[in-house]
Amino acid sequence: MAETEVRWVDVASYDELPAGTGKTVRIGALELALFRLTSGKVHAVHNRCPHKDGVLAEGIVSGEFVFCPMHDRKIHVPSGEVQKPDDGCVRTYEAKVENGRVHIAVPGEAH
Ligand code: FES
Repeated sequence: MAETEVRWVDVASYDELPAGTGKTVRIGALELALFRLTSGKVHAVHNRCPHKDGVLAEGIVSGEFVFCPMHDRKIHVPSGEVQKPDDGCVRTYEAKVENGRVHIAVPGEAH
């Protein structure tokens, strides 16, 4: 069976990504939160908290986690998993850096 087609979209300059918080990126109907972690790695997740739609790009980043700005749920950025005692998961998107630019893999149906 065929995998869902993805396309890579250039969304930002790596050097311009903020440290300690996220950046909101829109690709068609998708709204993503882009994070540069202290490790230097870049990750992208759906920009809404599974609890009550808090904007994750406005959360505080600590290590590999972002804290939702609305009610402080702790979300593991690389996996999208909400940490205990809360539940839930945020969709993640593959990200890569090439020639100083951040590219995100988005599903074919997003365009
Ligand atoms: S909306 Fe994110 S913790 Fe409530």
